[in-house]
Amino acid sequence: MARVTVVDHPLVQHKLTLMREKERSTANFRRLLKEIAFLLAYEVTRDLPVELVDIETPMTTMKAPMLSGKKLVFASILRAGNGLVDGMLDLVPSARVAHVGLYRDHETLQPVRYFFKAPSDLGERLVIVVDPMLATGNSAVDAVAELKAAGAKELRYLCLLAAPEGVARFHEAHPEVPIITAAIDERLNEVGYIVPGLGDAGDRLYGTK
Ligand code: URA
Repeated sequence: MARVTVVDHPLVQHKLTLMREKERSTANFRRLLKEIAFLLAYEVTRDLPVELVDIETPMTTMKAPMLSGKKLVFASILRAGNGLVDGMLDLVPSARVAHVGLYRDHETLQPVRYFFKAPSDLGERLVIVVDPMLATGNSAVDAVAELKAAGAKELRYLCLLAAPEGVARFHEAHPEVPIITAAIDERLNEVGYIVPGLGDAGDRLYGTK
């Protein structure tokens, strides 16, 4: 998988544009994030290995492909990551879910940890870490470090929007972890928000502003 994949599918791009609009309602924003998450999950799992197994159709027997590789864990960086995980679970209902609680100190922009819960067999699974916004990269770097410390060996990072600064910072710390995103925006502003972006993803998802 490429180090950075921008999912340029027209449906993803269309839905992202709708999400960026500032008058978009909370209900609409949440629904669109779930729909895009489904499509991004489709892309992030595109190269999963399959093996041929014997099955019986109503007509005959055949060899047919089934997933054969590592089982999946979706690791949500709280709280906005949950908005992505919801849509991803629609596509892969059997995936396990890990939660990493981090918030950004608004003065230092550094992540502060407050929660961590993950399946015990992380090392045998493909871990897809999710957060809608890869901004400074600090939370992403810290979440992946925590997951690695808990045993994760194979990881991917899935987001909706990334800033070039966040991509660079993330790959400085975790060069082997591919990033999958719907867009890479222009830059970060002075308080660490993505521009043009879509504002605070958590607030827009949960209507807390
Ligand atoms: N987190 C957000 O929710 N939005 C940004 O633009 C940056 C970080």
